[in-house]
Amino acid sequence: AKLTPQLTAARNDVLADAELWADGVTPPSNKVPLDAGFHYLPERLLAEYQTGGTESEVGRIIATANRFSAVVDRVVVLGIGGSYMGARALLESCCHPYFNELPRAIRDNRPRISFEGNNVDNDALQGLFDLLPSTMSKSDVDDRWGIVVISKSGGTLETASGFRILLRRLQKALGPNQEQLADLVVPVTGTSGKLFDLATALGCRELFPVPDGVGGRFSVLSAVGLLPAAIMGLDVVQLLEGAAAMNEHFRTAPVGKNVVLDYTGICHLMEKQLGCDVRLLSTWGKQLEAFGLWYDQLLAESLGKRERGALPLTIVNTRDLHSRGQQHQEGKRDKLITNIIVDQCKTAPVSIGTSKFNQDGLDELAEKTIPDVLAAATQGTNQAYREDNRPTADLHVPAINEFVMGQLFQMFMLATVVEGRLVGTNPYGQPGVEAYKKNMNAILRGN
Ligand code: PA5
Repeated sequence: AKLTPQLTAARNDVLADAELWADGVTPPSNKVPLDAGFHYLPERLLAEYQTGGTESEVGRIIATANRFSAVVDRVVVLGIGGSYMGARALLESCCHPYFNELPRAIRDNRPRISFEGNNVDNDALQGLFDLLPSTMSKSDVDDRWGIVVISKSGGTLETASGFRILLRRLQKALGPNQEQLADLVVPVTGTSGKLFDLATALGCRELFPVPDGVGGRFSVLSAVGLLPAAIMGLDVVQLLEGAAAMNEHFRTAPVGKNVVLDYTGICHLMEKQLGCDVRLLSTWGKQLEAFGLWYDQLLAESLGKRERGALPLTIVNTRDLHSRGQQHQEGKRDKLITNIIVDQCKTAPVSIGTSKFNQDGLDELAEKTIPDVLAAATQGTNQAYREDNRPTADLHVPAINEFVMGQLFQMFMLATVVEGRLVGTNPYGQPGVEAYKKNMNAILRGN
């Protein structure tokens, strides 16, 4: 209750910042310090789709994804940081857990997705080469692959070098059919810059923008995340609608009933009053691990400034109860554990069942299902923390689908900028990331 006026004021400031970018047009330069263009991006894209249909950005994204899916069996998505983590989160949360291993028909004829340009790893790159056919037929989808290259600046060495290397392999694989290159490479980038120039020189048929005023780690609901999502066969309109619904909730619900403000308030109070400056996002099951890693980046890069900012850490339970769990239960009292609990799994519950070999003693639990075991683990873990006065918060989602993922992305982005307002840290920009880049380039170029 004590924090209500500050949280409400922070919300008003965040809404005012967002208004500057509501129409997606760059505001006057004296008002630019805040990259708040992500906020109303879902509403803007949805409105444009409603009026412009196939001519709108969302319409073009869907059309390109469908065209791409029809002509290749693998897409390599190149990007790093904010240009990568959202797409990975969407693949892991909304697609089949063994998506790439499935026969094409069961993948709904969607291409397999591989990520590169997100690291500097020679062995991983060589490993990827083994998956990419070195020659391509003109039309047999099974041996054909393409590239989506995502870089807002166009100057990120990891992505740029990965792109150059894979482009060379694609050109070689195409052999005499070089004219197809323009269709098999789709860039997502800023409205100018090195990648924009390169895409123009290559004659890429489709090119999607990272809008002005939308920073990398806030860009998942632009073409940066939407294009890979559409290629995976996900419903991008539902993603945007989920995010817009979260915006509406954020705008209108009071403190105490507003999931963004309440989450921010709890994190802030736990840090200030109990010294909990480690924030564990505790996911239950594999599907939200990459979402957690997306959030790790968002929080760390946005608020890890001025020698402040909580340390984000994603855990996957029950897996990590058998490793980090010891420390969470008995280690330093510096952690707030937020559980994301998915109320309904996507598939039919599997029972433990009976067996004529009952040496494991599990017949007693024969009627229990895997979701029953998970619910007991979640409840039991929270109880154990509670009995030792270790703070937890629960965030329930009804199920995992595109709409809910849109809500979650938007919720955590909003919470991050609200907290920035609350503690006086500008959540946009990442000046600390520039230091290593400068040194790496100087070392490589010998100056
Ligand atoms: O949040 C950010 O802005 C960063 O994580 C960037 O997304 C990342 O550095 C990649 O930048 P770019 O898209 O310009 O290649």
